[in-house]
Amino acid sequence: SAATDYQAEDAKISQGTVATNHTGYSGTGFVDYTNVKGSSVEFTVAAAAAGPASLTLRYANGTGTDRPMDLSVNGTVVASAVSFPATADWNTWASKSVGVTLKAGSNTIRATATTANGGPNLDRISL
Ligand code: GCU
Ligand code: CA
Repeated sequence: SAATDYQAEDAKISQGTVATNHTGYSGTGFVDYTNVKGSSVEFTVAAAAAGPASLTLRYANGTGTDRPMDLSVNGTVVASAVSFPATADWNTWASKSVGVTLKAGSNTIRATATTANGGPNLDRISL
């Protein structure tokens, strides 16, 4: 079935702020992770049925340094230190996709920075 977008600015943000100081985002802004390890954004998503899904994160990283994040589903890390490499600048967005398994109904998906640099800027997830 078609992917649904979930805007980061509407998600539960821990150590981050909603920002609009760069261009090219969707919705009404993006999340600027605080530049600390453990900063996170948690989405609540709906799945019609249990099973595999492709999770895509739209992000920008205007530094020369990777901004890895752990991805968790329903409280369990399912992908550790996923790479979010540099984009051309903070106005240039890229997509990263990871396979996940969902349960039927409501699921939580969290993206947590694993380094002191924090996460990349996060625009949205789709799945
Ligand atoms: C800059 C940029 C922010 C970004 C931050 C960072 O301040 O404007 O959007 O989040 O760098 O390094 O994380
Ligand atoms: Ca930041």
